[in-house]
Amino acid sequence: MTHEFKTPISTIALASDVLMRDDIIQNPERLKHYATIISEENQRLKNQVESVLQVSQIDSHKIALNLVEIDMNQLIQRIIKNFEPRISELNGKLELHLDAKKSKIEGDEIHITNILYNLLDNAIKYCDKTPLIIVTTANKHRGLEISVKDNGKGISKQSQKMIFEKFFRVPSGNLHDVKGFGLGLFYVKNMMKLHKGKITLQSSIGVGTMFTLWFHNKK
Ligand SMILES: Nc1ncnc2c1ncn2[C@@H]1O[C@H](COP(=O)(O)OP(=O)(O)O)[C@@H](O)[C@H]1O
Ligand SMILES: [Mg+2]
Repeated sequence: MTHEFKTPISTIALASDVLMRDDIIQNPERLKHYATIISEENQRLKNQVESVLQVSQIDSHKIALNLVEIDMNQLIQRIIKNFEPRISELNGKLELHLDAKKSKIEGDEIHITNILYNLLDNAIKYCDKTPLIIVTTANKHRGLEISVKDNGKGISKQSQKMIFEKFFRVPSGNLHDVKGFGLGLFYVKNMMKLHKGKITLQSSIGVGTMFTLWFHNKK
């Protein structure tokens, strides 16, 4: 895990050293190039710190949910706006089917947002083709079901058994082609439990994966 932190830190250090050089200061183009590197690496670092903090909270059982009424159809629409640039950069598509008539739940907005971020981030990260992501809401089993479906590489039956375990990542032949800690789904699973909800998945190799969340509807 330390590797995940050290790489961005040393990249930022190198790039900021370059920024201080006189020949670079005279050259706006290269200046911008190195500033962009610093900004992007910093964002990566921020995400990594965020996920480690989330998990240390779970481990110490320090999470007190701040429960509020959340309209999931609305929240999903807000969240996907932040993913649209990333998806269109890949020429991908995100389809929304917000079919739930009763879309209100009681939950902690920050954590529910993180849950959806994690699933959408994975749907994009573990896709080896042009991404097509379908997000659906529906009223099922006397509650609200939300599914995030992708056309990515899929997860083998063997790996599905361990997918929610802390630090689990599907072993890949090409070492470390996609960065991550294997903490996202561990966090998601624990958060769903704290919200008295459920998470399931269906997946097949080469076809794609669908994660389904279930929540009680707000009374
Ligand atoms: N939508 C998905 N499609 C294929 N594989 C996935 C998907 N989501 C998660 N995985 C696999 O599950 C592992 C664990 O996911 P996660 O807990 O979010 O950790 P991370 O993304 O940091 O590796 C990933 O490393 C990946 O191998
Ligand atoms: Mg992840």
